[in-house]
Amino acid sequence: MGIQISPSILAADFANLEAAAKSVPSADWLHVDVMDNHFVPNLTLGVPVVAALARVAEQPLDCHLMIEDPDRWAPAYVEAGASSVTFHVEACAAPVRLARELRSLGSRAGMALKPATAIEPFADLLPELDMVLIMTVEPGFGGQQFLEMCLRKIERTKAMLADTDGDVWLQIDGGVSSETIERCAAAGADVFVTGSAVFGADGPDGMIKHLRDLAETNAG
Ligand code: DX5
Ligand code: ZN
Repeated sequence: MGIQISPSILAADFANLEAAAKSVPSADWLHVDVMDNHFVPNLTLGVPVVAALARVAEQPLDCHLMIEDPDRWAPAYVEAGASSVTFHVEACAAPVRLARELRSLGSRAGMALKPATAIEPFADLLPELDMVLIMTVEPGFGGQQFLEMCLRKIERTKAMLADTDGDVWLQIDGGVSSETIERCAAAGADVFVTGSAVFGADGPDGMIKHLRDLAETNAG
């Protein structure tokens, strides 16, 4: 799989999510940020909104669960229509069991790490996953500044994935823009979440094409 762009609807108009989805036909995915006001200090949306979006969006839904107890709640997002469900390992009691459950329900399974969480302790469970998400801001809000310290972790994760059976994608999320995407692509990321850079642009779909070009030109 090559470079993929997953625009985050967190930066779109919540009063018209259907229009937001239709404004980015070039997107490979729609990134849906689920926040519960416990794992992160912000509250966004849940299963009913994901189900509604799944009915109108052409793109598959990439759900990023910033919630406590994903072991209990994540499977419902597959049932609501998500094609990829990513849980935070910091909040998960049994990541192998949850990844297997998500896959058995027909979804891709992703595991996310906050900036201060190291990837190395999870080397042995990488084959259980379809994607690792390295957060490049502290989760909770869009529009934050990219954390340069995360580039080393992207590089180390890429090297670990090269030694892993299967095709595990490496996603990054937070502060991804035309200023930062080239460095992230060179470090080895292949799935790019981008909220404010896309939905804050005059032409969201044109911005996706621009970001994809930059990433493809610099892919590591
Ligand atoms: C932050 C979310 C991100 C956010 C990214 O917790 O996970 O997906 O929407 O927004 P930008 O691209 O504006 O940093
Ligand atoms: Zn996200």
